Amino acid sequence: MSGPACNIQPTEYKVFFPDEPALEAWGRRFAPALKPGMLVTLQGDLGAGKTTLVRAVLKALGVTGRIKSPTYPLLETYNVSSLYLYHFDFYRIKGPFELEDAGFRECFAGPGLCFVEWPERAAGWLPAPDVTLTLRVEDAGRTLLAASGSDLGKECLERTFNA
Ligand SMILES: Nc1ncnc2c1ncn2[C@@H]1O[C@H](COP(=O)(O)OP(=O)(O)OP(=O)(O)O)[C@@H](O)[C@H]1O
Ligand SMILES: [Mg+2]
Repeated sequence: MSGPACNIQPTEYKVFFPDEPALEAWGRRFAPALKPGMLVTLQGDLGAGKTTLVRAVLKALGVTGRIKSPTYPLLETYNVSSLYLYHFDFYRIKGPFELEDAGFRECFAGPGLCFVEWPERAAGWLPAPDVTLTLRVEDAGRTLLAASGSDLGKECLERTFNA
């Protein structure tokens, strides 16, 4: 049986950050490598550092002021020089129907840049991510696994890790 047609070779990276500032510094390198329309998903346990990382990326992209964790509502939207930035957290959703009803589909179809915490809660509904980030807690440190799911994501990670 053959799998879905896919000519993309995933790129995978693994890196350890000893503390929070080190993770945030990576977020600041990642930010300029992102392109409009990309979807970045973030996985990892509660408190793994997903919001901490998105916050660092959003700040580096020019978001000023308080960056809240999107608990309720499930989405925080930012607008920086005509680029829409969507930060979702799907931890509390009851099912993809909620996302459909909320009209979130269009966020993923447009030129905005999307970050999604707890993407596994929307499995089957969410489009394929360009970049998947997974954080693992190691005391005060964090191990980050980064994988690309598209050519755009691959270029983005190459640029970030080779910067
Ligand atoms: N090296 C580190 N990197 C990131 N966060 C760290 C680190 N060390 C300690 N922390 C702390 O861990 C917590 C991470 O919380 P954060 O809200 O970013 O997690 P999260 O993965 O978004 O959780 P949730 O699934 O609840 O949304 C923060 O309180 C942060 O200060
Ligand atoms: Mg969070």
